[in-house]
Formats: sequence, C-alpha cells, structure tokens
Amino acid sequence: MLVLGIESSCDETAAAVVRDGKRVLSNVIASQVRIHGKYGGVVPEIASRKHTEAIVSVILQALCEAGAELNDIEGIAVTRGPGLIGSLLVGLSTAKALAFARDLPLVGVNHLSGHIAAAMLMDPPPALPFVALVVSGGHTNIYLVRDFDDIQTLGQTRDDAAGEAFDKAAKLLDIGYPGGVVIDQLAKQGDPGAVLFPRAMRDSLDFSFSGVKTSLLNLVKKQGRPFSAAEIPDVVAGFQEAIVDVLVRKTLKAANQEAIRRVVVCGGVAANSHLRSRFEHDAGDQEIEVFIPPPVFCTDNAAMIAVVGERLLSTGRRDGPDLNAVSRWPLELRL
Ligand code: KG4
Ligand code: ZN
Repeated sequence: MLVLGIESSCDETAAAVVRDGKRVLSNVIASQVRIHGKYGGVVPEIASRKHTEAIVSVILQALCEAGAELNDIEGIAVTRGPGLIGSLLVGLSTAKALAFARDLPLVGVNHLSGHIAAAMLMDPPPALPFVALVVSGGHTNIYLVRDFDDIQTLGQTRDDAAGEAFDKAAKLLDIGYPGGVVIDQLAKQGDPGAVLFPRAMRDSLDFSFSGVKTSLLNLVKKQGRPFSAAEIPDVVAGFQEAIVDVLVRKTLKAANQEAIRRVVVCGGVAANSHLRSRFEHDAGDQEIEVFIPPPVFCTDNAAMIAVVGERLLSTGRRDGPDLNAVSRWPLELRL
C-alpha cells in the first residue's frame, strides 16, 4: 500500500510517501528552527502560521521526490496528537481535504507511536515485544510494546522531558537552539567528569530532570558571571552525561525487569551521539539488542507517521471528516 504521511505536531512541517510501511520513497521536512531560534523555544502561534505557509509545497515535494502522483496514493496518515493544537490542525485539515477530494482512506496517528514505529524502518526491524524509550522535547517515557495497539507505560517523566532540559540549559547558557543539538556538539570537546550533576529517582523507572536543571542554574549563579567559551564544553558534557546516564540505566533496567532482550530508542533526543554510543555499549554488555533509527527518523518526520498509518489502514481502521486534533493522548488510550 502506498501511504502519504503528514506531520505538523510541533515546529516541523513534514510529508512522506512510504510503500508497505517499509520503503521510504520520500521524506520531506521543512524545519522552523531558525524562526523559533531567536525566541529560544517554539512560539505556537508562529508555528501554525508557518505550517499553513509550508504544507502544500511540502506535500507536493514529497509526491514529486517519490515519483508519485496523488492518483497513486492509496491512503493518508496524519498526526492527530499529542502536540500543539494550532499546529496539528494544519496537517489534519489538509489531510482531510485531500482524503475527501480524492475519496481516499484517512487515518489519524498518535505521534508517539510514530516515533516508536520509526524503528520498523530499520533493516532488520525489531521483533515484538520490545521495550521502547521515547525521548523528545515533549516526552520521556519507557514503554512495553507488545504490539502497536498494545502498549503499556513503564516509566515517565514527573516534570521536564529530557529534550526540554537540554533546550532550557542551552537557553540559560545562551549557546543556541535547539539545545540538544548544540550541547551534543559542544560536549564532544568537554570532560564529562569535570562538572558533576545529580541523578534523580535512582530506584524508579520514572524520570525527573528538574533537579539537574536547577543544579545548572545554581552553578551559573554561584559563578556570578557567564561561563567562558573555554568553560562551556566541560559544563555541557557533565550535564549531558547526567541525562544520558539515567536514560540508559532506566531503559535497560525496564528491559531486564520485563525479561525482554530488545530495546528501541527513539524521539528527537535519540539523535544524540553520546546517548547512541552509551546505549550500544551498555546494552551490548547486558546482551540486549538495541535499535536506534538513523537521526533523520528520530527527530520529527512524516515517514514514521506513514508506517503506523499503513498498519492501521490494513486492519481496516478509517477516520472520517469529523477527526479532531488532541493535545494530550497517552498511548494506552484508544481514540
Ligand atoms: O522528536 P522531536 O523532533 O520533537 C518532539 O516531538 O518534541 O524532538 C525535539 C527535541 C528537542 O528538545 C531537541 O533539543 C532534541 O530533540 N534533540 C536532541 C538532538 N537533536 C534533537 N537532543 C540531544 N541531542 C541531539 N543530537
Ligand atoms: Zn516528536
């Protein structure tokens, strides 16, 4: 089945054409990073406006790069939530209009299940069941994935998401946006043992990143002046180490607890080079297989939405013109 995926839940306008939930024929992403960069975070009103400007050309480019026409498309999958309502509505109304005009089957997809499904594009894909860490700007959750319609939360953040902690730290240090990407680069030149940051909730599968953020704030205050360019790499390397350490430990602990030897790591923060190597190293030691999609399928994209869409459409799931956007949508909840 040839599926057109559409994603607009945050600040990326994306469209992709995927065959049979496996072969990505195109994957177009229009990022608004430069626009939101000067505010140090996503401004929802600007995001929806920019989605409106970009959506039609992004879809046309995805079709063109796939060598397909709208006539070839057999189903449309669109992110329905969770995310910013104003942003979601742009993708959703475009998808509904296309489906109505071409009489195509339409299905609304959970963005988090999309992140997990990005692993199904790997060769070979992980066999079910597996433990999944979804770690992004809005979420940090550990799941037991028995199947795509049978997902159980094992752990979640009690406050900030890991990506949010990276973004807030970068804003505090005034080193650029999005924080995760900048910190990933700068930390490569630093010593992760030079500045130590706390690890919270060691005995639980839940996360808390507000302590590590406050610790950085206190460090900046104690210093009484901004960190110099020479000091920043050590500071961010220590900060990144504290976050990566708990993400890796808790995910592997969840897998051991569930007696499952396969782990999927996905979402924007899964693009982090230190997180990827720590996972590969520690999971290998414990004889756990780790699946981390290539960075382009970790950050927001529409190919992952098409993968879930294909699964839902092939089981007969159809959504109608009354399909609405939802800002919160836990994976356990079937809508
Ligand atoms: O999945 P995503 O693109 O959007 C959400 O659904 O939130 O994730 C965006 C988050 C941002 O917080 C960004 O700082 C983080 O992913 N991120 C990274 C890296 N690339 C993106 N964090 C750490 N290292 C990276 N290389
Ligand atoms: Zn995302």
